Amino acid sequence: MKKALYDNHGRQISYLRLAVTDRCNLRCFYCMPEEGIKYMPREDLLTYEEMVRLVSLLSKMGIDKVRITGGEPFIRKDMPNFLAALSRLDDIQQINITTNGTTTADLVPELARMGIHSVNLSLDTLDRDRFFQITRRDSFDKVMETFEALLQHGIKTKINCVVMAGQNIQDLIPMAELTRRHPVSVRFIEEMPFNGEGQHYDQLHWHHANILAHLKEQFPDIEKLPDPPSSTSYNYQIPGHQGSVGIIAAYTRTFCGTCNRIRITPQGTLKTCLYDNGVFNIRDLIRAGATDEQIATTFLDALGNRARDGWEAERNRGFNVPVKESMAKIGG
Ligand code: GTP
Ligand code: 5AD
Ligand code: SF4
Repeated sequence: MKKALYDNHGRQISYLRLAVTDRCNLRCFYCMPEEGIKYMPREDLLTYEEMVRLVSLLSKMGIDKVRITGGEPFIRKDMPNFLAALSRLDDIQQINITTNGTTTADLVPELARMGIHSVNLSLDTLDRDRFFQITRRDSFDKVMETFEALLQHGIKTKINCVVMAGQNIQDLIPMAELTRRHPVSVRFIEEMPFNGEGQHYDQLHWHHANILAHLKEQFPDIEKLPDPPSSTSYNYQIPGHQGSVGIIAAYTRTFCGTCNRIRITPQGTLKTCLYDNGVFNIRDLIRAGATDEQIATTFLDALGNRARDGWEAERNRGFNVPVKESMAKIGG
């Protein structure tokens, strides 16, 4: 079977974001309320076998980059075995993981051995007290251990820092300073209103232009780098620094024109856009006994009906209107 995944607007899909769980051991306030979110029953989650089958099938249709997200992926039992199974799939060029790093440090040597391409680490501050305020958990040291281990094992690392008025603005420069001596990419992200009905979101205070202006005050010589195709971030280099900084205009800019990604949620719903409500449930199809050919056809049909500009629909919905969903249920 060789049927490349193109959508009805001629965009080729080569990047799968696979959320393996909605569970998380942190309570970042921009993602979920203090009491957490109502987790899906475990039997509703795609099993590892189902996920490996899906990724294998999609890899024959042109998906060559997979990002494992959550929730917190490493909260799910036996993650390393699942990653190892994925890493054996010939047509997958890159396995990437987005993690909060709280339980990852000891696994880093194994991740390096299996050839994990990169790890994106969520870290919004370098101050232990503020880490606690933001995540409502006292796990700062664990995350820093993971950061050190990633550097030590030479795994390509990006740090995701959500920029929040009144919370971590004083951290932006120290975070950017991390790039001086470390070959990491520190990416500052506009906060999106995906917080599982946590009530704090009223409006976007720090959009990408503010963030860049703030960085320029401290680093006037900051230089624009070319951005890889379909990159979420605008990338910059501070002269003399080993790493780079990036700004992800997650909320004010559309990536739709060059969008190469699809998402599969933990219970197996295909999202052809971050902003759609899910197109069909793959788990139900698999559990009803569908063949690979039937599953492939369903994917092709779904992509044949893809919105050209999902973000535009979001814009029409009205900016700054909080959505009910938590990022942990979508996988970012
Ligand atoms: P790379 O493969 O390193 O480019 O990763 P990424 O930036 O695609 O993924 P990551 O999981 O690190 O997400 C970083 C931020 O980008 C998160 O806040 C995501 O919610 C956001 N993001 C990822 N994909 C999209 C997208 O398609 N649209 C928008 N608006 N935001 C996105
Ligand atoms: N806005 C922007 N980014 C978010 N993330 C989680 N919730 C939000 C939000 N409301 C980020 C996390 C993680 C990535 C997958 O998404 O920091 O790094
Ligand atoms: Fe967990 Fe990530 Fe959500 Fe924080 S942002 S609560 S680490 S899923």
